[in-house]
Amino acid sequence: PAPGWSIAADVVVVGSGVAGLTAALRCEAAGLTTVVVTKARLDDGSTRWAQGGIAAALGDGDTPEQHLDDTLVAGAGLCDEEAVRILVTEGPDAVRRLIATGAQFDESAEGGLELTREGGHHRRRIAHAGGDATGAEISRALVEAVRARGVRTIENALVLDLLTDADGRTAGVTLHVMGEGQHDGVGAVHAPAVVLATGGMGQVYSATTNPAVSTGDGVALALRAGAEVSDLEFVQFHPTVLFLGPDAEGQQPLVSEAVRGEGAHLVDADGVRFMAGQHELAELAPRDIVAKGIMRRMQEQDAEHMYLDARHFGAEMWEHRFPTILAACRAHGIDPVTEPVPVAPAAHYASGGVRTDSRGRTTVPGLYACGEVACTGVHGANRLASNSLLEGLVYAERIAADIAESRAGDTLHAPVPQPLPQSGLPAHPLLPPEARFAIQRIMTQGAGVLRSAASLSRAADQLHRLHADARDALDENGKTAEPGVDTWEATNLLCVARVLVAAARQREETRGCHWREDRPGRDDTNWRRHIVIRLNPDRT
Ligand code: SIN
Repeated sequence: PAPGWSIAADVVVVGSGVAGLTAALRCEAAGLTTVVVTKARLDDGSTRWAQGGIAAALGDGDTPEQHLDDTLVAGAGLCDEEAVRILVTEGPDAVRRLIATGAQFDESAEGGLELTREGGHHRRRIAHAGGDATGAEISRALVEAVRARGVRTIENALVLDLLTDADGRTAGVTLHVMGEGQHDGVGAVHAPAVVLATGGMGQVYSATTNPAVSTGDGVALALRAGAEVSDLEFVQFHPTVLFLGPDAEGQQPLVSEAVRGEGAHLVDADGVRFMAGQHELAELAPRDIVAKGIMRRMQEQDAEHMYLDARHFGAEMWEHRFPTILAACRAHGIDPVTEPVPVAPAAHYASGGVRTDSRGRTTVPGLYACGEVACTGVHGANRLASNSLLEGLVYAERIAADIAESRAGDTLHAPVPQPLPQSGLPAHPLLPPEARFAIQRIMTQGAGVLRSAASLSRAADQLHRLHADARDALDENGKTAEPGVDTWEATNLLCVARVLVAAARQREETRGCHWREDRPGRDDTNWRRHIVIRLNPDRT
């Protein structure tokens, strides 16, 4: 379908988590006409689910250098040191600006920020809000600020594809909008700068901490637009997700690392603390190490989960410090005050994404990316806990500065008439909505926390078959599924799943959160490098 409506702006920001809304606020403050488009409601992305907090060297005796060291160790040899240096040095002031914007963090009795610890951090440096509701507070403050500033927003707007001009420069995006009156159906926002802040792709797996909207839309758009993506094989599995049964599907309740940061123990069914002795930080080792420790003990004992024991916190601390987690556990019939909490790893965070430089620029002129959708280089092979909200803040601010600076002489580039949207064309045929569940099962079985050449090759074949079936249907009927949010989402999930599996097959080693059963060692001789992928638009 051709777009039925269009509007124009200086900048279109796609997504409304910490990265998107920060970019929008800073762009608007720089005098740029900004439109935020978001797939559901403004506060429906991953940000509002963040529990533990936001990491920054804000405590007495802490320094950006120490934060840098912990980030590099967690990243297992693949962080871009310069990108990390930017993160940790600009981070503290970015958090102060977030507080000035209205976010209220928990304070200690002395009046300063109350800081906690999480895996991989050698110091208390995680600021939190509402005990364990940090993301919800950040989201509240930013949504209020965006509304107060009068930034134009379009909700229920799924981004489809990038528009480009005759020189291949960004010229806007196409959108599928539902229920927003004058902007219903397929339309376009024309703008010479597009900021992708669409979040992650956790829904590519059956069980994830991510909300239903995290379907890799930004990475799929960028791939279709010919942008480079990097490090997609490094999907982080959070070690402690509330275990609700082996067949639990969709978004699962997180049990924050901060619970371990405050002294909870990981134990097996016999009550044995199995992380002690595996790493000097025991339960507070970097996330990939704890997830592996849990999986190994599950395999040894043929168990479906392990336990997080924090009964010693007592009722008062649970209620005051972790009210969200307490409520989620009790809603599922588990009382952490009196019993250990069953936990198992689940998909949590895409450490890789659309490749950017230190100003958030992708390889397509005018297209920017920040937050989970981006690969700035700060996470390497395994993101350090609570660095994600910080990355969203710091790099969104850098993007706004870059757009404002490069704006001189920038005029709206006329988009070349092109068949729209690209998704739905032969290279990316639309999938029926139910394909989402097939993709999730294939990825969970073949490309989950534990992978091998055989499991990945099976996953690649099965994904290829889904794609081939959709293409055959397109050839026979000229049409596959009815265009709609659920069909676009299934199509995006397949696109990112195929590239993720291709990268995971290529990386024949175990590093960070990429765990190859058949290649158990880290291979610094051959693999201290990134896998960068760009799709050839003419190939399927
Ligand atoms: C958590 O609270 O454990 C999540 C923190 C993160 O993903 O960085």
